[in-house]
Amino acid sequence: MTELLTAHVMGTDLERLDGRAKVTGTAPYAFEYPLDNPTYLHPVESTVARGRITAVDTSAAEAVPGVLAVLTHLNAPRLADTSDAEYAVLQSDEVSFRGQFVGGVIAETAEAARHAASLVYVSYDEQPHDVELSADRDDLYAPEQVNAGFPTDTDTGDLDSALAEAAITLDQTYTTPTEHNNPMEPHTTVAVWDADGLTLYDSTQGVHAVRSAMAPVFGLEPERIRVVARYVGGGFGSKGLPHAHVVLAGLAAQLTEGRPVKLALTRQQMFVMVGYRTPTIQRVRYGADADGRLSAIGMDVLVQTAKVKEFVEQAAVPARMMYAAANRRTTHRAAPLDVAIPSWMRAPGECPGMFGPEVAMDELAVLCGIDPIELRVRNEPESDPETGNPWSVRRLVDCLHEGARRFGWADRDPEPGIRREDGWLVGTGVASSTYPLNVMPGSTAAVQFEHGRYGVRIGAVDIGTGAWTALSQIAADALGVGMDDIALEIGDSALPAASVAGGSSGITCWGSAIVAAARAFRAEHGADPAEGDRSEAEMPENPDTEKFAQHSFGAQFAEVRVHADTGEIRVPRMLGVFSTGRIINPRTAHSQFIGGMTMGLSMALHEQSYVDPRFGHVVNHDFAEYHIAANADVGDLQAVWLDEQDPHSNPMGSRGIGEIGIVGAAAAVANAAFHATGVRVRDLPVTADRFL
Ligand code: MOS
Repeated sequence: MTELLTAHVMGTDLERLDGRAKVTGTAPYAFEYPLDNPTYLHPVESTVARGRITAVDTSAAEAVPGVLAVLTHLNAPRLADTSDAEYAVLQSDEVSFRGQFVGGVIAETAEAARHAASLVYVSYDEQPHDVELSADRDDLYAPEQVNAGFPTDTDTGDLDSALAEAAITLDQTYTTPTEHNNPMEPHTTVAVWDADGLTLYDSTQGVHAVRSAMAPVFGLEPERIRVVARYVGGGFGSKGLPHAHVVLAGLAAQLTEGRPVKLALTRQQMFVMVGYRTPTIQRVRYGADADGRLSAIGMDVLVQTAKVKEFVEQAAVPARMMYAAANRRTTHRAAPLDVAIPSWMRAPGECPGMFGPEVAMDELAVLCGIDPIELRVRNEPESDPETGNPWSVRRLVDCLHEGARRFGWADRDPEPGIRREDGWLVGTGVASSTYPLNVMPGSTAAVQFEHGRYGVRIGAVDIGTGAWTALSQIAADALGVGMDDIALEIGDSALPAASVAGGSSGITCWGSAIVAAARAFRAEHGADPAEGDRSEAEMPENPDTEKFAQHSFGAQFAEVRVHADTGEIRVPRMLGVFSTGRIINPRTAHSQFIGGMTMGLSMALHEQSYVDPRFGHVVNHDFAEYHIAANADVGDLQAVWLDEQDPHSNPMGSRGIGEIGIVGAAAAVANAAFHATGVRVRDLPVTADRFL
């Protein structure tokens, strides 16, 4: 059991420390660091989805005033390590997906670079491409493992027999479409290559992650790469690892004699180059007795991966631990396609992987004639079905009951399609939410007493979550001082190493390291330190991680109105109730929860990337056509949490809050739409045409 920190500053509703700098425009984002004599880089992208480059004509581009150089695979500097195909930028004539970088123009202005990039003429030996995921492909394969190292398949008990013997069975297929991350700040890298090595001002979720990924690629010792990211305008996973644009900027910076190279991807380039959520096809099978007690859970997921680099989303993973059923089988199969490389998008695995199973629970409730909350309560597992470990804290039932009370669930019509108000069919729905406590290795923090304050240093990144503020609160409590006594420094690989802002793990890992450093500081220097006293400590191992199943839970509620004549769908109310351990800062935590829920609403109603199979690219690659929930889509959106401290998670008693808000939200909306209309939508997004 970890020694829990007493909360004085933690838990208080403090404004963001970085708020004033952000709203006054003085917080520098990657593109904005004041650097002398910058140059600008614009990528050239392939116009075929598969093939080889046969010729490149750069003469028109080179003739544009202000152009300094045109990079292609013919003249680009060689990289030291091309084993990761995503980073093997401009190293061969091969094209693996449409929009892949085939060149880059460096110029005195961004406008000249962009114009000249349009004048680079590339000829291809075009080969047939294949970009469509479907269930009947004959090349679906089982990867060695899926994202985050989970086993590809699990098989417990005897699913087939249990299904054959079950009183009530369900066998349905659900789909989620391709979705793209769209953080407000585009992916941006400013690269400076000089005698000191490579400096990257990068819009990233992890400065040390970028450094360790880029060091072998450029053949530099990690110490010769410095990555700076003090302020980041969102990432959602798309900035969790560097993508090809970072390599392109580093290549270009080798040609500018020390002048900085600035690269900001366009919104359209972000629909190719920075990862996306794979489409999923989910076959869900449930077997239950007449009272709705599950004996069988089957979850078979089909996803796509890029032929050029494997990424297989772990969408069947949450079905392994969510409900009690003795017989379970989960599988992942992937289609290797000539497409851009899928990657992380807020709650990879749980987000798409809870859609099918949670709509299926709603369907099972109807089949059994049981309230959907009661059905979930009846299927609570006493311990983790997969590992047999006890739960550290599992309060799904509390979340469901608290949500039911707040949402007015008791007044719900028992049958769907009953309530009609002014031409609108009105219904409510519920779905469960979950997200694991993730812990990543490699975080160290330092505490140094200087100018009468405690300098706290760690290479963490605040991607807009509130980490600047929450980490300062943790440091204050760990040192037993007030907020004003803390001077936090983050966002620079020159600071002690930190793990990535991903997997909702930041506060756990960085906070634990800060607490360890603070405790070391007090042990070494006492309560009355001298100027310059300094201590450093790594995040300690947590033995409880092996002993307990550590997951957060939540209950998502939605009210949906579907217009009886037009099918127009509106969501006037959403409520999320979460069990996530201690809340460090209620204000920034609330923002994370409602942000996740809004992204879930967006997934429910709008988000879908359309790939044109003839050309292999996303055609709605901008905000005009890739629809994201806007203010007008969001009604009364509430997020609350249970008062809780996890005695097994970390010294703060917290469990991470960045991702759980999106999980289950789309299922709650789809379930409410069924309750409103009697029409079951199993394919996202839930659009008007489904009801006509
Ligand atoms: Mo999140 S997809 O782990 O950055």
